[in-house]
Formats: sequence, structure tokens, C-alpha cells
Amino acid sequence: MASSHLYGGTFALLSHFLPRTCGITTTFVDIFGEDAEAEIRAALPTARVLYLESISNPTLSVADIPRLSAIAREVSEAIAVVVDNTFAPLILSPARLGADVVVHSISKYISGGADVIAGAVCGPAALIDSMMGLQQGALMLLGPTMNPNVAFGISGSTVRALILRVVISRLRLGEFGCCSCELRPCTTSAARSSACSKNSLSPSNLRLSGMTRPASASMPSAETMT
Ligand SMILES: Cc1ncc(COP(=O)(O)O)c(C=O)c1O
Repeated sequence: MASSHLYGGTFALLSHFLPRTCGITTTFVDIFGEDAEAEIRAALPTARVLYLESISNPTLSVADIPRLSAIAREVSEAIAVVVDNTFAPLILSPARLGADVVVHSISKYISGGADVIAGAVCGPAALIDSMMGLQQGALMLLGPTMNPNVAFGISGSTVRALILRVVISRLRLGEFGCCSCELRPCTTSAARSSACSKNSLSPSNLRLSGMTRPASASMPSAETMT
């Protein structure tokens, strides 16, 4: 079973390619619709996987991962909840919210520079080992093993730049009066300063890898972020 709010390529894979090539079929449910829970409960008993995007492409709808995971658990412990977290690596940790497996397109926010095509699957070691198995592993046999040069670039400069972009994004959220835990503007400056200090988002509170940004330092421009 999958959310009907999905990236077009994923929708095409599930609706056309997998049924034709592997005999795997998907029931799509509007997880944001009025009858979502009833439809999900009707579809899950025959499902092996519940697949959704944490923030959907392109509609940017935010899935209630704890609720959806709980429904899946209630129906069957054997259903794997798989969440594509491509749009929200900064602000959501689906594994902490109930997902069994989290997938990312690294080509987007994580790489930041539109200079690689890559992805990541995060899950229990047994699953990842089985995907990499020499005789039966899908990663091993079907081609998505990462190019070593790309892997080197991602684990070196890309990840270092990501850490900086995370810090800068959080500072900007604070500057616009947003708290990353709520992602909505505070209405008054008093509310903003209290919320931001409460959530450790004021510039003087930010520390990462021994880096401290003084409250008086100026904000980097968009150009210096990229
Ligand atoms: C939510 C989501 N998942 C997966 C993908 C596929 O990513 P890639 O192009 O890195 O294969 C995309 C691409 O736009 C996406 O938006």
C-alpha cells in the first residue's frame, strides 16, 4: 500500500513497472483524505509494505508518520513502514517516529549542489545485508551500487557542506521567527525570542563540531551557502 501523494517517478515504478516486471501490485490511498484511516485499514491486511513520503513531492503535504505507523502495527507487525525522507532530512527523523526503513534521494537537499545522482536506504542491518548479498541481493545484482567517486565526494565535502547548510538554515529559521520544531512564524517578537531561546535556535546557542557563531556575526548570503 502506498500514499497517493508521491514523487512521479516512484508512482510510475509502483503503478506500472513493478506490476509488469515483478508482479508486485500497489493499492494507493489518499493518506490526507477524509476517509484516510478507513481506506488504510481496508488496504493494509493484504500489504507487506506501507510506503509514503514524509513531505510529499510535489504537494508538500506532511504525513502523520506516528499515526500511520501505529495503524500499520495494529493491523500486522509484519508490515514494513517505508518513508521517503528526501524533502525533510533536516527536520524529521522518520525512524524515531515509527518508520522501519527510511530512504533518501541524496541528489536533492543532502548533496545540495545538484552534482550527483545518488540515494540511501537506512534500515535494520539484516535488511541492508540482504540487499547487498552476493547471490540474491537487489543492490548487488540490479545495479544501484554507488560509484566510488560519488561515494567519496558525498562522504567528504558534501557532508561537511551539509553540516554548514544545516546550521545556516536553522539560523535563518530563527531570523524569520520560525522554530524548526514548529516550522511556523511566531506572531510577536516577544513570542519569537522566547520560543527561539526555548528551542536553542538563537545564534548564540548554536554550536556544532566545536563551532560557535557569535550573536553579532552577520548572516551569510544565499550565494555563500551554495
Ligand atoms: C521525494 C523524492 N524521492 C525520490 C526521488 C528520486 O530521486 P533521484 O533523482 O535521486 O533518483 C525524487 C526526485 O525528485 C523525489 O522528489
